[in-house]
Amino acid sequence: SAAEKGGYDYFMLKEIAEQPRAVADTLLGRIDATGRLTLDEVRIPDPVLREVQKIVIVACGTAFHAGMIAKYAIEHWTRVPCEVELASEFRYRDPILDRRTLVIAVSQSGETMDTLMALRHAREQGAKVLAVCNTNGSTIPRESDAVLYTRAGPEVAVASTKAFLTQLVACYLVALWFGQARGTQWGDEVTAVVRELADISAKVEQVLATMEPVRELARSLSDRGTVLFLGRHVGYPVALEGALKLKELAYMHAEGFAAGELKHGPIALVEAGVPVVVVVPSPRGRSVLHDKMVSNIQEIRARGARTIVIAEDGDEAVVPYADHVVRIPQTPVLLQPLVATVPLQVFACELATARGNDVDQPRNLAKSVTVE
Ligand code: G6P
Repeated sequence: SAAEKGGYDYFMLKEIAEQPRAVADTLLGRIDATGRLTLDEVRIPDPVLREVQKIVIVACGTAFHAGMIAKYAIEHWTRVPCEVELASEFRYRDPILDRRTLVIAVSQSGETMDTLMALRHAREQGAKVLAVCNTNGSTIPRESDAVLYTRAGPEVAVASTKAFLTQLVACYLVALWFGQARGTQWGDEVTAVVRELADISAKVEQVLATMEPVRELARSLSDRGTVLFLGRHVGYPVALEGALKLKELAYMHAEGFAAGELKHGPIALVEAGVPVVVVVPSPRGRSVLHDKMVSNIQEIRARGARTIVIAEDGDEAVVPYADHVVRIPQTPVLLQPLVATVPLQVFACELATARGNDVDQPRNLAKSVTVE
């Protein structure tokens, strides 16, 4: 009913709008006033954490993209090797697991069969499993050694939005907590990240308030056959997520690429008028990533692409090569997906609606897939 949708036409629109609150709730009480992580609820004792030699993240769909981003944060902040794998591939390749492996299973529903089977396999091999889950008491957290709940609230629309942002927050918290337990040197960068997390909800709100041009652009592209997405570093999984959303909702051909791979094949797809959405890394921080991306935008523009550029406030270097610039607030490099994903959700939702699709119930898809 309309009341359930909080006045929105679709649950998806409501859930996109709820993201600032979902992010804030997921952080609540988990960082103290001195900037220390307080995740006692995750009942893994420090000595066990200190013994971990490898982290493996397993998930499906949008949760897998959250896992891909988590890998960057975990390895950078903890220096513990981290792999991320599609849950449906994981157990069939005889993965190397032992009691010093920590497996993180990321799942909104907590009922995805592929993810459940992956974690059962991991536990049989003696690995410890931590669930990052949005549904209290669901099967995946019940069968795991420990759980960190995301607090997105019930997600009804099939395509995941607010759960994704909270999965990112939860994974950042796990990475920071892990680093803390292992005595990783807390440099200025990490201190800044902890401080920035407190502001991230307001930044998501700020993005949501500036989405009208994105919706207009989406409507203007509703008759296209394909949209490409490019990203680098943590922007790469964001590009994959943008493409997945468009497939799921608009039933359009869409693909996400690592921008550095363009020259190894995908650039052959770029022809006059093809819309390419580019997620541009911050020019601050690791600016080499930014500069490489600006070259990539030039390359595709020279081949006639219609460039839709998602760039930080103040990043003027992209302007000469962008047909459309979508501004996002400045964040630390690793946190950018929390703001950069939002315009892609809005874009896919609006484009799908313009094509007459029901974004809450896309064809052939289920909210939670309980078969392998
Ligand atoms: C289904 C949904 C996706 C979701 C995936 C994983 O395929 O349609 O939106 O990302 O399952 O779901 P989970 O509940 O494990 O996060």
